[in-house]
Amino acid sequence: MLQARCLPLVALATWGCDHRRPLSTLDPAGPSAAAIATVAWWMLAGAVVLTALVSGLWLWAMQRRGPAPDDARAERQSRRWLLYGGVLLPASAIVALLVFGVPAGRHQLPWRAEPAALRIEAIGHQWWWELHYPDRGVRLRNEMRIPVGRPVDVHTTSADVIHSFWVPRLGGKLDALPGRRRTVRLQADAPGSYRGVCAEFCGRGHAHMALTVVAMEPADFDAWLAGADGAGSP
Ligand code: CUA
Repeated sequence: MLQARCLPLVALATWGCDHRRPLSTLDPAGPSAAAIATVAWWMLAGAVVLTALVSGLWLWAMQRRGPAPDDARAERQSRRWLLYGGVLLPASAIVALLVFGVPAGRHQLPWRAEPAALRIEAIGHQWWWELHYPDRGVRLRNEMRIPVGRPVDVHTTSADVIHSFWVPRLGGKLDALPGRRRTVRLQADAPGSYRGVCAEFCGRGHAHMALTVVAMEPADFDAWLAGADGAGSP
C-alpha cells in the first residue's frame, strides 16, 4: 500500500531523468549542453550531501541529552554555529557553484569572438521563430539548420513581446527581447533533429511556439546554404 502511494512521487522525482525526452537537459548533444548537465549533476550531488548533513545534525540535536549549558557556554556555541552554518557553509557552496558555473557559462555566452562560429539571428514573433542567416540572406520559419561540430552564435531578438530561445540538448536558454540583441552559443556533436521551444510565456500561442534544429554534416550544410541563397523567406 505504501509503495503504491509512493509511486507517483517516484515517477515525479525521476521524470526529468528520462533520457528519451527530446527536451531533456540531461541528455546533452553538444559541449554547451554538456556543461549545463555537468553543473546539474554536481548540484544534485551537493544537495544530497547537504540534506544528509543537515538531517544528521538535526537528529543528533534531537537525541542529545545532558544538562543545559550555562549562558556563557551557550553564547560561545551559538557564535560557533553562526560561523559554520551562516558563513562558512554558504561561502563554500557559492565558491563551488562558481567553480562549476563560470566555465559552464563560458560555453553558453560567448565572451570571446570565435572566428569559426556560424552566425544566425533568431527573431521571436507571436508565435513563431524567424531564423535569419545574415551572411547569405536566408530566412527560415521554425527551422534552424546548423553544421555539426561547429559553434553557432545565435543572436536573439524579438519583433513584439519577450520570448525565450531554448534548445535544451544543444545549449543554454536566452531571452529574446524587443530592441535588444543577445547571443547564446550552441553546438551539436552529431547529425539529427533537436527540438527547441519558447521558454517565456508570450501569450495565447506560447505553448505552440517551437522550432526544430537540424544538425547536418558540414559538407551537406554548405551545399544546402549555397542552394538556399536568398530563398526560403518565412
Ligand atoms: Cu514566445 Cu513563449
